[in-house]
Amino acid sequence: MLDLGLTRKQLAFQKQLRHFVDTEILPVARENDLKHRVDRNIIAQMAKLGLLGVTIPKKYGGSGLDFVSLAIVAEEIERGDAAFRTLLSVHLGLNSMALLGFGTEQQKKKFLTPQAQGKVLAAFCLTEPDAGSDVASMKSTAIRQANGSYLLNGHKRWIGYATMAGHLLVFAKTSPEAGHKGISAFVLKQGMKGLDTRDIKNKLGLWSSSTGEIFMKNVEVPPANLVGREGEGFKIAMYALDMGRFTVAAGALGTIRACLEHSVSYAKKRSTFGKEIGRNQFVQEMIAKMVLNLETSRLLVWQVAWMKNQGKRDTREVSLAKWHATEAAFAAANDALQIHGNKGYSDDDSPIGRYFRNARAPIIYEGTTQIHKMMQAEHALGYRSLNG
Ligand code: CAA
Repeated sequence: MLDLGLTRKQLAFQKQLRHFVDTEILPVARENDLKHRVDRNIIAQMAKLGLLGVTIPKKYGGSGLDFVSLAIVAEEIERGDAAFRTLLSVHLGLNSMALLGFGTEQQKKKFLTPQAQGKVLAAFCLTEPDAGSDVASMKSTAIRQANGSYLLNGHKRWIGYATMAGHLLVFAKTSPEAGHKGISAFVLKQGMKGLDTRDIKNKLGLWSSSTGEIFMKNVEVPPANLVGREGEGFKIAMYALDMGRFTVAAGALGTIRACLEHSVSYAKKRSTFGKEIGRNQFVQEMIAKMVLNLETSRLLVWQVAWMKNQGKRDTREVSLAKWHATEAAFAAANDALQIHGNKGYSDDDSPIGRYFRNARAPIIYEGTTQIHKMMQAEHALGYRSLNG
């Protein structure tokens, strides 16, 4: 039975996170954003609070909490600054959860534990300049050598926190002719010979986050760094995306909530034609949509949390949640901007512009809206079965 009530522990955790966001993240969010500054101090504090390993078991250095708690973390952090929720998505959702699911005991001790403790940041390197939605068309290769190690070559782009991560989960083809069945996953360490990382400049949003690319030229990776079996990489990537998409969807709730709260407050302060603009039905319509979208997105996100807590496969449900919540967040930011008028258009007057810019990327990353529509339609039509 799906229970929508938070436990006393979860409520206390939520309160603690709201305080953290109000006192540590929001006061510096504008400056971090406008200066395009990744705030390492906040990341260090997130690590101290155990947020970089929320759902990782305590024996691997994590907090050992459930997926409702992870949803709470993502929502609260994104209400402050989507840059740090993006970090959670790649570090924990995409990388650490994949290591937890597929890593050997030795890999969990060596790589996962410092990640969960927040001592080392981790990235997820799947996308390439010419392979985003169509994962199986990736060109990076990992060719096994006579001594058992792998030689990795290729270029990955749009990689969250690529230049800051100590560990990179990299996908490459061990059997280039075998399509999706020829992909394998490896842990690379920053500083390996032949590995270069670079930041991408001039992004539309997420200015206070790090987004980059990696270049691999004959990077020699020991067999002990192969995650899962050879050829299992596509499955690992999809499993990781089921986790990452969950954090993206849950994070979107934070943007919707922030936009709703700001819009309500502003609509009661600002008057035109002798009355508060909140009395205008066109404004009410935008606020009502935010309310509906917040509730529907939360229901979809918590449904996934419940399924994950039960250990059920949720590819269908998490795709729905990610599609709906990220579109709803962008719509909420767009409407909040409209309600704020010129005060939404300037970063000097309100944070709405930042929410608006930051809400755009999640409609593209971790499966574009069009990929999610395709998945849902093909599942409904019986052309694919999303939950296996
Ligand atoms: N779990 C386990 N197995 C899965 C799976 C899952 N969630 N999804 C698919 N599979 C399995 C399938 O069952 C199938 O298995 P068999 O070979 O045994 O039949 C196999 O994987 C291939 O599946 P598909 O035929 O469905 O593969 P496809 O080529 O049609 O691709 C897709 C499906 C849904 C389009 C997928 O490619 C996809 O999700 N694309 C979007 C990729 C994406 O989200 N990229 C974002 C990158 S991350 C990012 O942005 C990071 C960042 O730093 C911000």
